[in-house]
Amino acid sequence: MLETVKDLLQEVKEFSPNSEEEVEVFRLKFLGKKGKMNELFIAFKNIPNESKKEFGQAINMLKQNAQEKVEEFKGSFEAEEKRKQIDFTRPIALNNLGSRHPISLIKDQIIDIFNRIGFSISEGPEIEDDWHNFSALNLPEEHPARDMQDTFFIQTDPDLLLRTHTSSVQVRHMNNNKPPIRTLSPGRVYRNEAISARAHCIFHQVEGLYIDENVSFADLKQALLYFAKEMFGEKTKIRLRPSYFPFTEPSAEVDVSCNICSSKGCNVCKYTGYLEILGCGMVDPNVLENCGIDSNKYSGYAFGMGIERIAMLKYGINDLRLFFENDVRFLKQFSSL
Ligand code: DAH
Repeated sequence: MLETVKDLLQEVKEFSPNSEEEVEVFRLKFLGKKGKMNELFIAFKNIPNESKKEFGQAINMLKQNAQEKVEEFKGSFEAEEKRKQIDFTRPIALNNLGSRHPISLIKDQIIDIFNRIGFSISEGPEIEDDWHNFSALNLPEEHPARDMQDTFFIQTDPDLLLRTHTSSVQVRHMNNNKPPIRTLSPGRVYRNEAISARAHCIFHQVEGLYIDENVSFADLKQALLYFAKEMFGEKTKIRLRPSYFPFTEPSAEVDVSCNICSSKGCNVCKYTGYLEILGCGMVDPNVLENCGIDSNKYSGYAFGMGIERIAMLKYGINDLRLFFENDVRFLKQFSSL
């Protein structure tokens, strides 16, 4: 009898199925109601007492081994079967893809528009020194116009600050390049302002600079009219109002006709028919000289605009904070642009 159990143990050990059915046949043969195990447990009763221990251990081992085999192979062919049924040619389910941020979209549009009239990109550091952010731009220390931009200074080095405008990049670019210069500088800027629907301590600007011989205010106006039409539509008009910036003379602020009410007057344009979009002017000769450019030979224009401002006007967004909260319900709306 013990020999039979040993043979069965060997059989279990060697069992290596090729299909789910073979596992089931094996399970029934050993562990089923009419299977070997039950037969052996019945036979156990008639085993002489002195052999019971040895026989009992052998059939327990047999049962355990058979169960382990079934466990090992049960379901493994099923997974294999399923894998064979996968249709690899089926199109994948689309993941919830992200969308481009509206600030990036508008930034790229502005770059694209100015690229077409010959402007290339230049960039500069966000942590700037006093010279590039202020002094070189005709804003010497103690100049009252420094208060126009509430500045974050770096505590450990009073000469360093977070740039308050991208105009600092025009200084760097003029220092490192000879005219003709036609450059666009997009980037993040910082000001110590209370956060509200209309202001934030971080925002984005694009600075434009064109230096050559005989550059005139008419060139500036023409470039800005072209930009406004490309950005807001062919019917857009621009209006220049005299203004003051230390780095330009003369200086102007530029408004575009309100595309929400077609200049008839609405609450967005505060019933003026126009919306302010940027500051600009002819580069002050002092700035040219500070940057090593001969102001007798060269002249140039510069302009600077807030990307958030353009995005708000273009998309009808009335709260600046939305650009920084990154709520996906807001961002998702730009996924097709
Ligand atoms: N830097 C100005 C600001 O941040 C914007 C600006 C105005 C830039 C006139 C210019 C300019 O280049 O000519 O408010």
